[in-house]
Amino acid sequence: MTTMAASGASSLAGAGAKPGSTKKSPFGKAPDGEEVDLYTLTNKNGAEAAITTYGGSVVWLKVPDRDGKLGDVVLGFDSVDGYVSNTSYLGALIGRYGNRIGHAEFKLDGKTYTLAKNNGENTLHGGTKGFNKAVWTAKEIESKDGQALELSYLSKDGEEGFPGNLHVRVIYTLEDSNALKIEYFATTDKDTVVNLTNHSYFNLAGPGSGSGDILGHILMIEADKFTPVDSGLIPTGELRDVAGTPFDFRKPTPIGARIDSDDEQIKLGGGYDHNFVLRRKAGEAISLAARVVEPKTGRVMEVWTTQPGVQFYTGNFLDGSLHGKGGISYTKRSAFCLETQHFPDSPNKPKFPSTELKPGEHYHTTTIYKFSTEK
Ligand code: GLA
Repeated sequence: MTTMAASGASSLAGAGAKPGSTKKSPFGKAPDGEEVDLYTLTNKNGAEAAITTYGGSVVWLKVPDRDGKLGDVVLGFDSVDGYVSNTSYLGALIGRYGNRIGHAEFKLDGKTYTLAKNNGENTLHGGTKGFNKAVWTAKEIESKDGQALELSYLSKDGEEGFPGNLHVRVIYTLEDSNALKIEYFATTDKDTVVNLTNHSYFNLAGPGSGSGDILGHILMIEADKFTPVDSGLIPTGELRDVAGTPFDFRKPTPIGARIDSDDEQIKLGGGYDHNFVLRRKAGEAISLAARVVEPKTGRVMEVWTTQPGVQFYTGNFLDGSLHGKGGISYTKRSAFCLETQHFPDSPNKPKFPSTELKPGEHYHTTTIYKFSTEK
């Protein structure tokens, strides 16, 4: 344990906490002057997840490699200021509607709701001030599985154009099994649409290690189909077979193997930026969505979810201008996201699984990032 704690040491506040504890520390101020905190959850093995109340963002996540050495596997910033100016959603909770809504509008119960056009003609990740820019209320809670933190936020009726007061709760649990579990809960007082996710950028080699891009990570996605997009990255509505395309990750394949192919969909995304239709096993509450292996460190991440889709994004918009923890420049494809979700633009795609939430209903989804190693 001592060696793990020592090798996991970092210049960041809150690092090196006692195993099986949660520590709260100041993280700066939001633009309106509100104090922002950082909670460092340390499990019994010394693995750490640090979460800030600003956007509910995962700031760092330190898990062992095959030699037991802890390494930070997510992108993030040293203080709240990075998160305030960040437009790449690093580590953040995303809502009220994760991913895109086409033409920044949707109809519900015969009424048209108009949203912000913050991504060309479309709405991305909740609009101009999504849940990633909100200061959440935090509460440490008991969990038999590890260290847990509950975050809550009230998204008011009309916020960013969405109807209904939406009470949102997210519980992060850093399990002693080295898994980060994220549970999302919401209720509304008017019919609305909801699609919540987390936008962590992963590099299992450790982004601080000079490890470069993620093209050598080996990925498997449990999906036979994906949702092709138009030039604005809005799904066309088709569910297309992955077979014979660069989207076939049914067998473990290096992320970079086909990322520069001249496939039309790859070109539209500038790489991968697509929703995969997860293969669900009948009667299973939570299923494996994806598995990623980083060969040099032996780190393995499995993504388990109750959601029908996952957005696989290869950091195509990162261009080196963002400087993260320790001043490291985040370059193109230096990390990937696996954002579990309902499909993009579902409010305008009646054939996609519904994202509607009505008064009296309980939105509840779970996603677990499970970490292990292999030789
Ligand atoms: C999601 C989107 C991408 C991009 C990133 C953030 O993954 O699908 O197109 O917007 O978020 O930069």
